[in-house]
Amino acid sequence: SRQWRGVIEEYRELLDIPADTPAVTLREGGTPLVHSEWLSEVTGAQVHLKVEGDNPTGSFKDRGMTAAISVAKHEGAEAVVCASTGNTSASMAAYAAKARLNPLVLVPEGKIAAGKMAQAILHGAHVIMVKGNFDDCLRLARELAASYPVALVNSVNPVRLEGQKTAAFEIADFLGDAPDYHLLPVGNAGNISAYWLGYRQYADLGRITRKPVMRGFQAVGASPLVTGQPFDDPETRATAIRIGNPASWKLAESAAAESGGRFASLTDDRILDAQRELARNEGVFVEPASAAGVAGLLQELEQGESYTGTTVVITVTGHGLKDTATALEGFTESGGTVVDDVVVPEVAAVAEAAG
Ligand code: F0G
Repeated sequence: SRQWRGVIEEYRELLDIPADTPAVTLREGGTPLVHSEWLSEVTGAQVHLKVEGDNPTGSFKDRGMTAAISVAKHEGAEAVVCASTGNTSASMAAYAAKARLNPLVLVPEGKIAAGKMAQAILHGAHVIMVKGNFDDCLRLARELAASYPVALVNSVNPVRLEGQKTAAFEIADFLGDAPDYHLLPVGNAGNISAYWLGYRQYADLGRITRKPVMRGFQAVGASPLVTGQPFDDPETRATAIRIGNPASWKLAESAAAESGGRFASLTDDRILDAQRELARNEGVFVEPASAAGVAGLLQELEQGESYTGTTVVITVTGHGLKDTATALEGFTESGGTVVDDVVVPEVAAVAEAAG
């Protein structure tokens, strides 16, 4: 057995990047596909979770970032820039450090989770906090890259999607075919577009016999793909997907349309409930936005949708440790037990109360 080499070396011949590009890698990808007994029971389907929080910086962004940073380095870039709700900046900063590039990140002030900010800072990024939302940050990042010698590594850079599509390859390689349905959160809409690219490519190569129905989920307060209109002032507690005007809007619409899928929106309460249930029922701790696919499945069941007898994959996009503040809200009222000293009868009492 050998160590997983990272998504570029594992799938190089399937990626549209210059063949001689050396890989800048932290050995991303190769993430677990975890069978969910809970969701399989609830649906009567075989439900699997693609756990992308297991990537080196804790989100799926690493798949695209190894590709974007490798190409930027190979082309002679010295600095890289991105706009981000947190995960892209954390990933870019780490891969830029590995490649010895200067990272510059633009984030919406006060709206990114502390863990993600800590990652960007510790990896040496120059962090600019913008009084505005993600969409404002992306506009500024594009302008910067147009006027200064700095490479833009947001998913408007097509190389990002080349890296991210490897998640679809891994799922198909493991299951032996594509699932019937693929559900995932949608923000800037790069990831759903990348999965669709990957499934289409595998179908063209004859490695799968079907392509999945793609279903993308947004937060009600930031759901332009559901309403068909950009949101000037997107709002959701799932800060990773707090985006009003997704860059890959058209590609994502094609993915949904061509696959027979669709977009739907979820209240923040539903998203946070799904996050907690996933942690309690499956042992999988994800950040709020990452639970949108699971919340989406549960909402669809309530609305009468049937998944019985099918195979379903849900991508859970980022690790729960990214955003502990949201996870810990209300903790003391909801079950924290404080004792002066640990004595057996008290522990027994806690166990009894819980049981
Ligand atoms: N889940 C998480 C945890 C994310 O960080 C993102 C996007 C998404 C889902 C949505 O993916 O944008 O490809 O539709 N985060 C970006 C960022 C915007 O800056 O980290 P998408």
